[in-house]
Amino acid sequence: MLDSYAVIGNPISHSKSPLIHKNFAQQAEQSMQYDALLAPLDGFEATVENFRQHGGKGMNVTVPFKLEAYRLATRLTERATIAQAVNTLKFKNDEILGDNTDGAGLVRDIECNLGIPIAEKRILLLGAGGAARGVILPLLQQNPSLLAIANRTPAKAVALQEQFNRYGNSIAGDFMHFSDAHFDIIINATSASLHDALPEIPAGVFAQATLAYDMMYRQEPTRFLKFAQQNGTHQIADGIGMLVEQAAESFLLWRGIRPQTKPVIAMLKSQI
Ligand code: ATR
Repeated sequence: MLDSYAVIGNPISHSKSPLIHKNFAQQAEQSMQYDALLAPLDGFEATVENFRQHGGKGMNVTVPFKLEAYRLATRLTERATIAQAVNTLKFKNDEILGDNTDGAGLVRDIECNLGIPIAEKRILLLGAGGAARGVILPLLQQNPSLLAIANRTPAKAVALQEQFNRYGNSIAGDFMHFSDAHFDIIINATSASLHDALPEIPAGVFAQATLAYDMMYRQEPTRFLKFAQQNGTHQIADGIGMLVEQAAESFLLWRGIRPQTKPVIAMLKSQI
């Protein structure tokens, strides 16, 4: 019987994970199966248990189940504990290991694929929800000179900054709080691009930026990326690279092999 993996979410039909992992498996000559599983909104745990009972080895977890996966895990990696969210499960005997590979995926995409080291850079992170929380520690671990967290509702940014302050130099506020500041890397971790909206960020913050990064992706550049480019940012990137890199981190956890990501990123970009 083939080792079996799946991505679980609701909705799930749009997920690129089966395509990405099938490509990794082929490339790394791994005999494995990878499917998409739709769980009812009130049936996450039962769906995972059923998959596990039938010999499943691991899962990727997507919206809206990352917090439930965090609670279901019987052991957590440090990065999952700190993110308070799990996007990767690995099953071994009775253990359910929960990991979070999102932040590592973002860091690898920026540093390895886009060629921009994070160390010593001034970073502006927009958003203070689950997506932002998941990437703060991995970003701070690369030793930026500053991580500024900005959110429409500033109290949430301040709460995150207080939690992560001991890991590196960070500040927090609303979007206008940073209107006179300059940043090297500006990352959109809000869900605004999902609704084709633009967070109300002062245009001046983009003037000297090397990179504007949107963790979401659409067929066209998002409004955030267009706005960044119009206001002087040198380079823009959407979240496709992060999507493939977080998948590669999961694959590494499950199979002990780090797959090549560049051909898969190129393939996805040509399809979307
Ligand atoms: P996720 O898990 O994707 O982070 P979330 O926890 O619901 O989702 O958080 C959504 C984030 O996007 C929040 O930071 C939210 O800002 P608020 O805390 O002020 O609600 C932000 N967001 C969503 N739509 C936005 C918009 N149009 N402009 C600015 N920020 C937006």
